[in-house]
Parts: sequence; structure tokens; C-alpha cells
Amino acid sequence: MLRAGGSKCLELFEAAGYCPPVIYQHPLAYLLGLEGVALLRAWAGDYDREFVEARLAEVRRLLDDEALVNHGGVVVGRGDTATGYRSWSATYDEPRNSLFDSDEPVMHDILDALPSGTVLDAACGTGRYAAYLVARGHRVVGVDSSPEMLDRAGVRVPDATFLRGDLHRLPLTDGAVDVVVCALALVHVPSLAPVMAEFARVLRPGVPTGCHAGRPGCSPPPP
Ligand SMILES: C[S@@+](CC[C@H](N)C(=O)[O-])C[C@H]1O[C@@H](n2cnc3c(N)ncnc32)[C@H](O)[C@@H]1O
Repeated sequence: MLRAGGSKCLELFEAAGYCPPVIYQHPLAYLLGLEGVALLRAWAGDYDREFVEARLAEVRRLLDDEALVNHGGVVVGRGDTATGYRSWSATYDEPRNSLFDSDEPVMHDILDALPSGTVLDAACGTGRYAAYLVARGHRVVGVDSSPEMLDRAGVRVPDATFLRGDLHRLPLTDGAVDVVVCALALVHVPSLAPVMAEFARVLRPGVPTGCHAGRPGCSPPPP
């Protein structure tokens, strides 16, 4: 489990010296939680009676599902992103993460419209977008804090440059790039402002930035 940044609650707990050693996750709890979010949105007026009744029926089905009810859940250790991605790097690309199916169509539309130039793939991981950009004629610099993810990126995209670094202190000079792409990574930073300031610093003035933060709770599976 990687700690998603931005958890105010967790920050307050930690400031008070409390740090739960593990997190208990149960698939039924996750699914009921999703139903709960949907029902609360309906409560606030986003959906109608039919929607509410369908969610309630789903909740009953979930509670009748023996495989879910009898699942023992998993106990997940807490760790930092470097530790988590060291493990996840081996399986990050295979089997394919279904999350890619939702971000790639949107990102590809944006990237396809860019004139060729120098692109920073910030928190590039194994080079998913670096590969896409190099294939479209861009010069790409990928930066990531995980050496294991970077090793894979280097093999996958030999024509790009990969540097180890942190989103808060990018190893690039001011105005070095025409575009910053950052996919599925901002969920890991506790505060967006310093990272956005760093993106602005390395961008040539007056050019676009595209960011896809990822969904809450989209941390990778436990090692
Ligand atoms: C879910 S992966 C996304 C990788 C790639 N952008 C993609 O879309 O496939 C998140 C990446 O962010 C990197 N990361 C997390 N926090 C970081 C930080 N503060 N600085 C640099 N990289 C970071 C991780 O090492 C990991 O490779």
C-alpha cells in the first residue's frame, strides 16, 4: 500500500505521533463504501429514486455473496512510494492495469494535438507516456524517484533520457521543456502547489501542462 498524499486525517494522526502499523482492507468493505458514496450523492440530489433502489438492491446482493462475506480481507503494510514501487515495478505493465484504459484515450487526444518539442514526463514510471511521445517525434526527459521504475523505462524507451529525481526538485534547468506531462502520480504528493510551481519553473513560459492525478484509492496492490 502506498500512502496517497493529501490525507489530512493521516497527517493529523502522524503529527500527534500515531501511526497505525498496518491497514486492514476487505473487498466487501470497499464495495459497500462505493455504494455508500453513490447513495450519498443521490442523497444530495445527483440521482433519482430508480438509481437509489438499484444501489440498495446491489447492497443486498453484495451482502448475500458468500465469497465476499467470507473473505478474510488483507492486512497491508504501510510504506513509502520508493518501497512500494520497488515491488510494483516488476508487474506494473503486465498484467495491464485497467486504469490505463480510462486515462489513455483522454491523454492521447491531448498529446496528439501537440507540436513536436521537448517534453518532461514527470513521474514517468516505466515510461508509458515517454514511449508514446517519442514515437510521435518528441524529445522526452522522464523523471521519477524510483530507480526500479526508471530501469524499466530505460529499456522500454532507449531514445528518451531518464533521470532520477523528485517532483519537488526536478533535475532540470528553468524553462527547459515545452510541455509537462504527469500521469497517475500527483495522488502521491501531499500538496499540489509546490509541484505545480516546479512544473512552472521548468516550463518554457506560455506553454501548456497536462496532469492526470489518478483516482483516490488507486494506490497499487500490496507487495
Ligand atoms: C502510478 S505510477 C505512474 C507512472 C506513469 N506516469 C504512468 O502513468 O504509467 C506513479 C509514479 O510516480 C512516481 N513518484 C511518486 N512520487 C514521486 C515523487 N515525489 N517524485 C518523483 N516520482 C514520484 C513513482 O515512483 C511511480 O513511478
